[in-house]
Amino acid sequence: MITIAVALLLAVDFEKQVAPLLERSCLECHRPGLIAGGLRVDTASDALKAVRPGRPQESPLYTRTQLAAGKTGAMPPGGPPLTAAQSEVLRAWMLRAHTGPRVSLSRTAKR
Ligand code: HEC
Repeated sequence: MITIAVALLLAVDFEKQVAPLLERSCLECHRPGLIAGGLRVDTASDALKAVRPGRPQESPLYTRTQLAAGKTGAMPPGGPPLTAAQSEVLRAWMLRAHTGPRVSLSRTAKR
């Protein structure tokens, strides 16, 4: 019981924390109907295709956002870049995305 409670406290909630930032900065291009670069981020399971679980530094979904604005491949391409706090949410989610509560992985980013 205690282990489960602690795991839930530590887990980043996809729907509450990750989806809003993807929606604001990425969904415009990475959505059904456009799917820029072959990637959509409207569900956690789709977004996870650009994630190496537990390894944000090797996950395009994270590393692309950490490139200097204006550099080739930087996301979002037209800026503004993610804030440090948003980057940290994304990073923390990837660290635990494979261990987090399963329910958060199938929710859609749409509200
Ligand atoms: C204005 C449109 C636009 C926005 C907004 C945008 N992207 Fe992209 N993205 C693209 C395009 C076009 C490509 C394909 C060209 C390339 O790879 O650079 C791409 C490619 C990518 C790729 C590589 C896909 C792969 O599987 O290799 C990743 C990862 C990515 N974007 C992440 C993001 C993230 C995360 C955000 C939000 C922080 C974002 N993008 C916002 C247009 C956009």
